[in-house]
Amino acid sequence: MTSTSHMKAATISNYGPPEVLAIRDVPIPWPQANKVLVRVHAAAINPKDTFIRKGRFKRFTGRHFPLMTGFDFSGEVAAVGPGVMDTTVGESIYGMLDGWQGGACAEFAAVGTGHFFKKPEGLSFDEAAALPLVSLTALQALCNCGGIGSGMQVCINGASGGVGSMAVQIAKIMGAGITAVSSRQNHDFLKGLGADHCIDYRHGDIALGHPFDIFFDVFGNRPFRSVKPILSHRGVWVSTVIQPHVFLSVVLTRFFSRRKAKLVVVKSVRDDLEQVRRWVAAGLLRPIIHDVFPLEKIREAHVQQETKHTRGKIVIHIG
Ligand SMILES: NC(=O)c1ccc[n+]([C@@H]2O[C@H](COP(=O)([O-])OP(=O)(O)OC[C@H]3O[C@@H](n4cnc5c(N)ncnc54)[C@H](OP(=O)(O)O)[C@@H]3O)[C@@H](O)[C@H]2O)c1
Repeated sequence: MTSTSHMKAATISNYGPPEVLAIRDVPIPWPQANKVLVRVHAAAINPKDTFIRKGRFKRFTGRHFPLMTGFDFSGEVAAVGPGVMDTTVGESIYGMLDGWQGGACAEFAAVGTGHFFKKPEGLSFDEAAALPLVSLTALQALCNCGGIGSGMQVCINGASGGVGSMAVQIAKIMGAGITAVSSRQNHDFLKGLGADHCIDYRHGDIALGHPFDIFFDVFGNRPFRSVKPILSHRGVWVSTVIQPHVFLSVVLTRFFSRRKAKLVVVKSVRDDLEQVRRWVAAGLLRPIIHDVFPLEKIREAHVQQETKHTRGKIVIHIG
């Protein structure tokens, strides 16, 4: 911490390349009603952070700079705002900031009560920060959108990244058969997480293992029309990408097809964080960390995230 009222935070000075990221001294946020102040020990990077930095979502993030960055966090409750009943100062928590404003890549963050839960026991702060956004996306895609159940066949495209590595583990927990799509170098890793079949997206036939009850297009390059022939009778295609063709498929299949297209838009849900914590405690789910960077190396962390070949998560260790 820099002074009693200021903290170090990764900020964005304008929309642009990683060079727009800088560590600045900014005021510590004070927790309003129903919020807590978290002393952040670790954060994690997501494609969402790099997209926001580049200005892809400027309609939501606005033009007031500097912008804060980062959504995943783990840390300790430093203060509680009015109306917060079930958390005490000093409790170790993990969670995800909702919306578009970010602020987890900082020494402190203000977090609403619905957006965090007790940190999974046995995990370090770095490990816990690697979980929220990606595990909640995978859970909400497979369970809420896909209606996953035991014995279903699930294909996960982009299986070795942040979301995919959670989706493989959660599909396994749910008793599904899993076909994982990644580069060949990640196939042993994915079999270790529970994949039954692995396909190399450069050479393999994506249809292996079909018909699929759920096709989870994590990477976002398999449109509904290309996957429809390999979906089961009432199969569901779930996409992560917010694009016009996805919205069109979602709307059209709602009325005109037994096979459905769905879009997952992750929400920070306390019950889901609790479920993830239970799975971790039972030894069924583990965070996957590609690399850990200190806050000062936030630019390097974004560069790695943008390679699109990260295995699991990039964590920011804050202290
Ligand atoms: N809608 C939502 O709520 C939501 C939530 C979370 C994420 N997302 C979106 O979901 C996408 C994935 O997020 P993420 O965090 O998992 O990203 P990520 O960690 O960067 O994903 C990287 C993975 O993608 C794989 N990959 C690279 N090229 C591929 C290809 N041609 N085909 C299949 N897989 C390929 C890589 O595998 P190899 O290294 O083996 O090549 C790598 O493991 C992003 O676009 C993100 O914005 C959306």
